[in-house]
Amino acid sequence: MFSSLRWKLTKAYTIWFLLTFTAILLILFFVFRSILFSIESKELQDLLENEKAAYTDGSVVQEQPYSYYTSFFIPESGKIKIFKKEERLTPAFLHYSKNARKNLEMADLQSADGKKLHVIYGKIPIIENGKKKGELFVVKDISHVHEQTERWFFILFLIGLITGSVSLLIGSKLAGRAIEPVKENYERQKKFVSDASHELRTPLSIFSASLQVMEEEEKERLSPFSAEVLKDLKDEMKHMNSLITNLLTLAKSDSDSISIEKAVFSFSEMTSSVIHQYQMKEKGLRKFRLEGPDDDPCMAETDKTRVKELLYIFLDNAVKYTAKDGEITLRYEPDHRSKHLVIHIIDNGIGISEEDMPFIYDRFFRAEKGRSKKLGGSGLGLSIASGLLHSLDGKIDVNSTPGNGTDFTISLPVLI
Ligand SMILES: Nc1ncnc2c1ncn2[C@@H]1O[C@H](COP(=O)(O)OP(=O)(O)O)[C@@H](O)[C@H]1O
Ligand SMILES: [Mg+2]
Repeated sequence: MFSSLRWKLTKAYTIWFLLTFTAILLILFFVFRSILFSIESKELQDLLENEKAAYTDGSVVQEQPYSYYTSFFIPESGKIKIFKKEERLTPAFLHYSKNARKNLEMADLQSADGKKLHVIYGKIPIIENGKKKGELFVVKDISHVHEQTERWFFILFLIGLITGSVSLLIGSKLAGRAIEPVKENYERQKKFVSDASHELRTPLSIFSASLQVMEEEEKERLSPFSAEVLKDLKDEMKHMNSLITNLLTLAKSDSDSISIEKAVFSFSEMTSSVIHQYQMKEKGLRKFRLEGPDDDPCMAETDKTRVKELLYIFLDNAVKYTAKDGEITLRYEPDHRSKHLVIHIIDNGIGISEEDMPFIYDRFFRAEKGRSKKLGGSGLGLSIASGLLHSLDGKIDVNSTPGNGTDFTISLPVLI
């Protein structure tokens, strides 16, 4: 329980860290890209102005500090004029120029020798006498800056991953330390419950035995009122006994010390005897049905006693929460391929309301306290069942419609 809490805390912490880190990295990447774009586009605009001046009034193109650029004029009709040629850049961009729709943009190109080029280009239409003659292009290779940026971000990403792993370790350590006091407290409480239950058992069995003796010896001499009191005492004693047994089971399941003694047995045989017991007990009252494959003994390897305990919890509940003329079905379906046994305990009783559903496995939870008290029980059955299921590696699911009935579905990986 605590290791899963610790793992959850660590996971939450690490996911939070990684998400924040990725968000920061992405924001940084886009900010950096837009800064790069604005610097590069300013330089490109200078170049374009220069080239345009040179083209229109024949002035000399000033010597540019930027080496990797190409400029050319693509006329509406006629031959392309190249002013400055770059070995890789020029043919690659001429090929791309049909797609160049924006006036200023970054683009990825592929040179003839297969190299990836990252460029920024700008274009200006040249208009003479009100007529468009063509477009003047300036393209600058910014691959080196781009590669550098990518490299830096890759390094940052790696640093993030390493930091993430380190924070996972540190987080796990911190989470472990943070839950230590809670764990100690919990262990102490658990020990208290277990010790108290053990201590209570002896006086209770003495009480119980004394009541038995009293009833046997004094039966004839007791007034009707005293006989009633004695009966109530015995009922309460029974209730207390089962409560203490349940508390002990829960204390054991909390410390994962429910012992599982595996043995091979036929599940079909076991359930028929269990259902037979209920049929005998409920004679003339609720109908019990057993549904399973006729010709399959459903050989299982697990702790028979624990599985029986589990069935008793669900069947007792089904009896408790179903009217006297109701019907209870135990259906089991073996899945030999996945070695799972799926068991349904279905009743047509009062059902569980949607509001109560999230709490039915909680300790001491009972829907409609008033009615439940009359029915007996202490709200520990289903929490014990989930502890048992945990020890048996099983799963549970429940479907219920108030007024119509409930279907508890258990899946156990026990078939051989
Ligand atoms: N088959 C069922 N039909 C209707 N309600 C049920 C059924 N099984 C369990 N519940 C509800 O879940 C609660 C918890 O069950 P459980 O832990 O076995 O406690 P208890 O049986 O002592 O009340 C019950 O009080 C009841 O409200
Ligand atoms: Mg119960």
